[in-house]
Amino acid sequence: MSVISVCNHKGGTGKTTTSIHLAAALALQGRRVLVVDFDPQGFLTRMLGAAEPKPEHSGLGLLDPQADLRAFPVQRAGGFDLIGASMALTKALRALTKPTDVLWLRETVRAGHDYDVVLLDTAAALSVYTMNALVASDHVVIPVTPEYQPVVGAEQTWQTVGLVRDKLNPALAGPRFLLTQVDARLNRHARYAEYLREKYGEGVLQTPIRTSSSLAAASRDGRTVYDIQPTARGALDYQEAAREIAGYALAEASAPGPLAAPAPEPAAPEPVVSNATSSPPPAPQAAPPSPESPRPEAAPHGDGADRQAAPEPPPAGAPAEPARQPSAPVHQPDAPTPAVAGGWTRLGGL
Ligand SMILES: Nc1ncnc2c1ncn2[C@@H]1O[C@H](COP(=O)(O)OP(=O)(O)O)[C@@H](O)[C@H]1O
Ligand SMILES: [Mg+2]
Repeated sequence: MSVISVCNHKGGTGKTTTSIHLAAALALQGRRVLVVDFDPQGFLTRMLGAAEPKPEHSGLGLLDPQADLRAFPVQRAGGFDLIGASMALTKALRALTKPTDVLWLRETVRAGHDYDVVLLDTAAALSVYTMNALVASDHVVIPVTPEYQPVVGAEQTWQTVGLVRDKLNPALAGPRFLLTQVDARLNRHARYAEYLREKYGEGVLQTPIRTSSSLAAASRDGRTVYDIQPTARGALDYQEAAREIAGYALAEASAPGPLAAPAPEPAAPEPVVSNATSSPPPAPQAAPPSPESPRPEAAPHGDGADRQAAPEPPPAGAPAEPARQPSAPVHQPDAPTPAVAGGWTRLGGL
């Protein structure tokens, strides 16, 4: 059993697509999978064509200390169980301001459930929901498109995960980057992939997810690619990624431990997310031309229907994504696990 957060402080890097298709792939591989949409905007819920649940049946309900995951009402989609997002997640943010409010989800998950995998999709903002997800997790997957801003966001996320591990969740394994929306025709994609692999080693999953219009199309009509075009390269890539992730996250003997990859930069005690990425990735224009890369992410695949036009390169000297301010007090370094009380009712029935 494993709880896996899908997280990157930058938007548009494929978090929701990854959550859906990893879940579907793991389900096809015989795992019992639950996905929770912790993005208040609810894109995952909408992408699957699922109805907005009542607030208490959304991810918010999992922050209630009385919540029982074994009896929690779920929807069924894409071969897995879904706890969708509700508009109430946004309203409840105002009530979830105590340092201990990052601990509720962990209480619920630890109280027991019958899933092999719980996948937590998070928003780009470092909100109390993202913190709950990280504190409840055994593993973190950081989807990263090999472009400047997503790479900066991914490295900030790596640092955040290190802080959460140091201060709140020592059992959290080192995060893994998952390269997404990789276009074999773009030299800069090969360069950023190489930059990450050189710097983080095993912290980068071997399997890249290539651009695949089938993934987007499947999302638009609320189903996964496995229902529509199971041989599309997006389907195959996520199947391979799911196998790779299951290999370390679901193996019997797998115990969360340090990665071989370098530890995050020594973390400043605050704020959690800093603008100062100590080693910013190279700007595309400054990087040397890359040789034709034999790396798997550069390998073309015989799925012509999936071809997409190459995106425009980012403007010269594109600045890093501004650091996002935590929208709630994130944690106290030595916050004890509280005697749990309050919870859903504490939120005043939002
Ligand atoms: N591998 C891919 N190939 C093509 N389009 C993709 C791929 N992954 C994601 N997308 C598209 O990119 C956009 C952003 O993806 P999404 O998963 O919503 O990112 P996030 O959750 O990080 O904001 C969506 O329109 C999605 O369909
Ligand atoms: Mg998303």
